[in-house]
Amino acid sequence: MKVLFAIAEADPFIKTGGLGDVGGSLPRAINKQNGLLRVIMPKYSSIPQSFLKEMRYVISFNVDLAWRRQYCGLWELIYEGVHYYFIDNEYYFKRAGIYGYDDDGERFAFFNKAVLESLIRMSDFRPDIIHCNDWHTALIPMMLKEYYSSNPFYYGMKTIFTIHNLHHQGIFAKEILQDVLSLSPDSNGARNLEFHEAANYLKGALLYSDLITTVSPTYSEEILDPYYGEGLDAFLRQRKEDLCGILNGIDYEKYDPCLDPALVCHAPEAHWKKENKLHVQMLFNLPINDQVPVLAIISRLVEQKGLDLLSHIIRELMELDLQIVVLGTGDYKNEETFRYFAARYPEKLGIKFLFHEEWAHKIYAGADMLLMPSRFEPCGLSQMTAMRYGTIPIVRETGGLKDSVIPYDGKKDTGNGFTFGPYNAHELLYTVQKAVKLYHEDQVAWQGLVHRAMETDFSWDLSAQKYLEMYEALMVKM
Ligand code: GLC
Repeated sequence: MKVLFAIAEADPFIKTGGLGDVGGSLPRAINKQNGLLRVIMPKYSSIPQSFLKEMRYVISFNVDLAWRRQYCGLWELIYEGVHYYFIDNEYYFKRAGIYGYDDDGERFAFFNKAVLESLIRMSDFRPDIIHCNDWHTALIPMMLKEYYSSNPFYYGMKTIFTIHNLHHQGIFAKEILQDVLSLSPDSNGARNLEFHEAANYLKGALLYSDLITTVSPTYSEEILDPYYGEGLDAFLRQRKEDLCGILNGIDYEKYDPCLDPALVCHAPEAHWKKENKLHVQMLFNLPINDQVPVLAIISRLVEQKGLDLLSHIIRELMELDLQIVVLGTGDYKNEETFRYFAARYPEKLGIKFLFHEEWAHKIYAGADMLLMPSRFEPCGLSQMTAMRYGTIPIVRETGGLKDSVIPYDGKKDTGNGFTFGPYNAHELLYTVQKAVKLYHEDQVAWQGLVHRAMETDFSWDLSAQKYLEMYEALMVKM
């Protein structure tokens, strides 16, 4: 059995968030158990030069998108035991970053078609399954059926589509169906992709792929409901039998409190967390004090992450005996709120509006708690990383947060974090108050929580095994 894993980002080549983390760590974990999987992604010019230089040219050919004939180069690189392919086209991918261009619909349509075209040219690898991830690869199942079904090479090839975030669907002007994808208005392809007078790539994947997965069991149920379904719940309900949730893991080598080079002191030394906390307080210009709990927000500062809840209660939070550090970038409105309160309470709130990997590691280790009041969270990786570093998550019970954080209920041996249910600012405030009170008043109980958080297993082993079982089950399914 062979699997091709198609994705728009993969650490350490390029990443903007959790998708890139999974793109880096899941293929490695699956290959550790069974070396059957290869990865394919675009060859962005923002991939670090050191990697670009190491890549080996395989072949080039043309890819037609409606009336445009585009050059396509195929490159490869073996990194940490995983075989990566890169799709090269400078017109589409020689740009800063990954997304956010007016022609993203066309860029990723090209990538998807190039993936299918390149298969015929990979001399030693014909996948039985193409495992697609998020809207950037959502056209592959449709293309396989609508463009290539009469070509015997593709016969029997299966597709799996993993939803990392249903909120991003790849919605473009309807004209793209004909002008880029060559789907005439009355064709099956056009009908299946069209939604509310627009082209919706993700909808196509929901209708065409053989199996659909999401990144946590709870999210796989939530999205059947209109509240979480982002308008696509009816299609998900239709495919309920073919939908399942597999919880993500995190990279245990990259996030290792005993070896992480970003830390100033390592576990299991007695005061390792305290030393890292003092370091974080220094980085954020906060008063150096190991008695005060440090709460961290390490996140894209966007609506999904529940920052509007926080903005309602931030004044009350500032009255508590705590410090908050914020690391991440996002919506201007959210940054403004933090900026205002950081100016008013410089002794309590430290901000850094950038995406800084090394600082993130330092904060995971140095903070006492991590705030993640997400409105929805397909999986969430930060809460798992935090726990690995003994930092207690305070989360809303949704998606992967619900599947990974077990609430402390006041009894001695329970839980690895704090949770609340309703999406309500005062629920959040109450939960933070409870956590901060425990920290100040019962360090024995707190250390028990820290211990249990660090002991919880979020390695990929179990989930990689589940993906393998799913691949095998799909192979025997006709
Ligand atoms: C997206 C989701 C996040 C998930 C990640 C990886 O970024 O928002 O919840 O952990 O994908 O699957």
